[in-house]
Amino acid sequence: MPIEQTLILVKPDGAHRKLTGLVIDRLDAAGLEMVAAKMTCVTEKLAREHYAALSDKPFFEGLIKYIRGEFHGIKDHRILALVYRGENAIKAVRAVAGATNPEQAAPGTIRGSFGRITTAQQFENVLHASSDPADAAREVALWFRKDEIIP
Ligand code: TYD
Repeated sequence: MPIEQTLILVKPDGAHRKLTGLVIDRLDAAGLEMVAAKMTCVTEKLAREHYAALSDKPFFEGLIKYIRGEFHGIKDHRILALVYRGENAIKAVRAVAGATNPEQAAPGTIRGSFGRITTAQQFENVLHASSDPADAAREVALWFRKDEIIP
């Protein structure tokens, strides 16, 4: 199985609901290795670059506000960004995370247990996890410099 790196973001709802430790605990338990971590500021530019592939979706502007903490009063738009590495890490992390839509996420997954859809139809699904190797490479490079990642 390939050794992969994948980007995880504990989103503002995760931080607000004190789920940061739980996310790290579940990822550690999946047998993956954390190789980078930082609290970082989500600028408007970074948010739009991160979600560039979704810019034509109707939920895009809400997503930008959400990831920047505007719904949760997160000071300075900080977010916890992590890189995990391991065999099949991309799929393994997404299995722990659960489906994008919290209502469809299996019980016991992070999103199945803790995600929700607000009355304004905003998905709050606790974390971001890269979806495939090309996305993972692009996203890791967007959020981290090379020298911030353990080789
Ligand atoms: P996407 O990249 O499709 O999912 P994932 O985060 O599982 O890789 O979507 C990015 C984010 O956009 C998702 O985490 C939540 C939000 N989103 C919505 O708010 N509504 C939607 O219908 C979809 C598909 C996504």
